[in-house]
Amino acid sequence: MEKTITIENVTRIEGHAKITLTLNDDGKVDQAHMHVTQVRGFEKFMQGRPYTELPGITARTCGICPVSHLLASSKAGDGIMAVRVPKTAVNLRKLMNYGQILQSHALNFFYLSAPDFLLGMDSDPAQRSLFGIHAANPEMAREGVRLRKFGQQVIERLGTKRIHSNWVIPGGVNAPLEPSLREAILSEIPEVKRIATKYLDWFRGQLPQFSEYAQNMGQFNSLFLGLIGREGELEYYDGHLRVVDAAGNILVDRLDPDRYAEIIAEAVEPWTFLKFPYYRPLGYPEGMYRVGPLARLNIARKAGTPMAERYFEDFRSLEPGAVNSSFYYHYARLIEILHCIEKIEELLSDISILDTHVRASAGVNQLHGVGCTEAPRGTLFHDYKVNRDGAVEHINMIIASGNNNLAMNRGVLEAAKAYVDGTRLTEGMLNRVEAVVRAFDPCLACSTHALGTMPIQVELLAPDGERLDMISR
Ligand code: MG
Ligand code: NI
Repeated sequence: MEKTITIENVTRIEGHAKITLTLNDDGKVDQAHMHVTQVRGFEKFMQGRPYTELPGITARTCGICPVSHLLASSKAGDGIMAVRVPKTAVNLRKLMNYGQILQSHALNFFYLSAPDFLLGMDSDPAQRSLFGIHAANPEMAREGVRLRKFGQQVIERLGTKRIHSNWVIPGGVNAPLEPSLREAILSEIPEVKRIATKYLDWFRGQLPQFSEYAQNMGQFNSLFLGLIGREGELEYYDGHLRVVDAAGNILVDRLDPDRYAEIIAEAVEPWTFLKFPYYRPLGYPEGMYRVGPLARLNIARKAGTPMAERYFEDFRSLEPGAVNSSFYYHYARLIEILHCIEKIEELLSDISILDTHVRASAGVNQLHGVGCTEAPRGTLFHDYKVNRDGAVEHINMIIASGNNNLAMNRGVLEAAKAYVDGTRLTEGMLNRVEAVVRAFDPCLACSTHALGTMPIQVELLAPDGERLDMISR
């Protein structure tokens, strides 16, 4: 008799999702689906607005990654205006992006994922939070908060507020950097470097004991996609699209992000509101690719900053070719935190960052603009078509987390097959399934809605809908 297990509200992620597991007669998992259960409709209700308003509106997609939308939307606006953004404005935008990636990564690692590593996958679910970390290791909780605060303050010091700043605009940014704020950020660099390195070394030291998770939590072959710098270094704002396969071979290189539609198409499934982007040449669903920290480190040939370089080389030695276990998203995320700190220091160390020419002005010069950046969770696209007055007529946004949709579903299936025994369900089994989703750090708020309380309810259902078993917390 076929049974279904439902994880109603996946916990410790950004947004709302549920997981259903369909069991076969032996109580083994046959199928798995991650359903994203809300829809937002930004692409529709923004139609008719002037393109200059879109950075401010699209930033409201999300309270975690407003900066990413602000940047992608402003870059699409740069394209519509057909201007060259002043170099200092480009560097200021990059600075804000590094602050954004850093704070978001610290949130995922210390607040959402570390409880599983520090306290254990089978520990009391009530303790699996930042509060549980604080009880077990107060210094780790404090330093995790400190790292995130540093990133948030970079955003605030540049844009005058932490969430929904309107500082980035088509053509550049709306104000130069105050010299005193440059000093303030630079003065904190040594402390946050020390914290980032400390937890990188701690997590690296834990990896041997997590080797079972690395095997079972989303270990599969896929393509990897992201932006890459001119010399093959990590790049989050400029650069070109690169795609590598599971063996690390380059399939696409130096593709202008404006031409993303040549390699990415989107599929729709009836059981979820999140679309499934795929690599067009391989078709759906074979064209599964991953984006985000794991993908960025897999497509790069070097980190490009001295301290992160050492960890980058270690990361790449974990597996031959590309690193295919989704569990290593966590390690990649920590390496990126250190890299972001180094890049913030590098950008601020050049005095030209205080230049006051930070904005180009123009009207509509092209009727189509594409903005692409690396958001914390991966490659983000904003694609706008406008009329001659600048009113937006067509919008397509491909959200970073959406790019990982096929891979997240695959990861859930692999973990469920490895850990879930439908004949004797335990909370720890299901937490392992959720942990795969957390490794990807999806921001479902970006395509769905805001955070709320997220109780978890797991139901074991018979085909006729009768409830056979339930676990809730
Ligand atoms: Mg879309
Ligand atoms: Ni988001």
